[in-house]
Amino acid sequence: MATLIRRDIWALEASGTWDPYSLAYASAVREMQALPDADPRSWSYQAAMHGTYVTPAQTDWNGCQHGSWFFLPWHRMYIYWLERIVKSFVDKAGGPADWSLPYWNYTDDPAHASLPPAFREPTLPDGSVNPLLNTNRRSTMNSGAALTSRTTSTQAAMSNALFSDPVQISFGGVETGPIHFNNGFGGLEDQPHNQVHDAVGGKPTRNCADGWMSDPNCAAQDPIFYLHHSNIDRLWKRWLDLGQSRSNPTNPVWLNQVFPFYDENGGQTTMTPADVLDTVKNLNYAYDDDPVTVAAVAAPRIVPTGGPRRVVKPREVSASTGPMTLGPDGGAATLLAAPETAAAFEALAAGEPPVHIYLHIQDIHVAEHPGVLYELFLNLPEKMSPAEADDHYVGMLNFFGLSHAHHGMGGADASPMEHIYDITDVVRRLSKAGAWDPKEVTVKFIPSSGTDVDPGNDPSMGKPAEVHVGQIRITYD
Ligand code: C2O
Repeated sequence: MATLIRRDIWALEASGTWDPYSLAYASAVREMQALPDADPRSWSYQAAMHGTYVTPAQTDWNGCQHGSWFFLPWHRMYIYWLERIVKSFVDKAGGPADWSLPYWNYTDDPAHASLPPAFREPTLPDGSVNPLLNTNRRSTMNSGAALTSRTTSTQAAMSNALFSDPVQISFGGVETGPIHFNNGFGGLEDQPHNQVHDAVGGKPTRNCADGWMSDPNCAAQDPIFYLHHSNIDRLWKRWLDLGQSRSNPTNPVWLNQVFPFYDENGGQTTMTPADVLDTVKNLNYAYDDDPVTVAAVAAPRIVPTGGPRRVVKPREVSASTGPMTLGPDGGAATLLAAPETAAAFEALAAGEPPVHIYLHIQDIHVAEHPGVLYELFLNLPEKMSPAEADDHYVGMLNFFGLSHAHHGMGGADASPMEHIYDITDVVRRLSKAGAWDPKEVTVKFIPSSGTDVDPGNDPSMGKPAEVHVGQIRITYD
């Protein structure tokens, strides 16, 4: 069997909204939605395997792995089996023989940061309802708003050369046992994965009443979910291509963890990360931008920051003065360092690789998902517009999965959420520009919809709920 090629949805859509591949996907989704809920191939059963509020849950529901080094392999397996199921319906309907799950590359071309037209169109060419349009998204996204380049940036993730780490932020996530939800997002999972979820979904409300993409228990019901994850899966491959010590774990604990799935006949099957390391040899699919030879990637576009990562226990630099609350206008906190720590910090800021400096936003509590993202800045000058403040920009704070951690679903047992940012580059840049005082660091949170629509004029924003941040820390390793 020839290797299936997963294609860029925007390239497919260049031939028109209803290119044969998008139309075949729409028809298959409709068929799967019409199957009885108990059929493992049904749209609702497949989505429930990712996450659901439906009770009692089947034992193989709520299986998605988040905040863990199983995030990437689990989602690779999940969309692989979904693709096989969808394909069986495409085949039955006489759709394209080489149909495969497309990917949504929202990062590389600003013109592709909007939802592809087939996912916004109310009807199919025959006038019937389009199952790819989900009205439980940010209304602005359904009317063609674009994700911002900060929402879709892969820079932080791709420059992190370590797949996993017991504590600090790595590309693939914290080393855990199998877990539905946990603190310890991998770099790619946090940015852009979580951010795209929140920006597309908007504010989720209880039991999937709205904001599906922002809530892991509802997200996989939205057909765009699988194109988002096809892209995340592709980025895992592009990360490996960058080389320079990037590699997958060789730890048998990671390699041999078994996860359950269903095949296109509804038969039960299982897979382990070891089974999915090579998409071509193991799973018979490739991406249309997979390099033909290794030589083709000799010049990586992204240069790793700060040199190789060392796995050492993080050391404290400074702590925030106390808890803070983020409201509709965001917020700011100042971290004060003791003189002796400040001296060490100054040396770090001027230092050379391989030291990395991290910003921790932790003990995050919310009563509900706030439906907003925050852009984070260090020492943002009063008069500087956030849009122009790239030199001060750290990353985004997102809330995908927060309700899970908060409500203690999936074993995290109500542990509040934490996000970690590698701020090595920002600190060194500010230090060089003389805009850095190690004794006093200000962290600023500016609300964002994640899209190019200003949050103040965005009908999809509502009133963002308050976010409580227990502590902000800076560490280095
Ligand atoms: Cu398991 Cu993008 O989510």
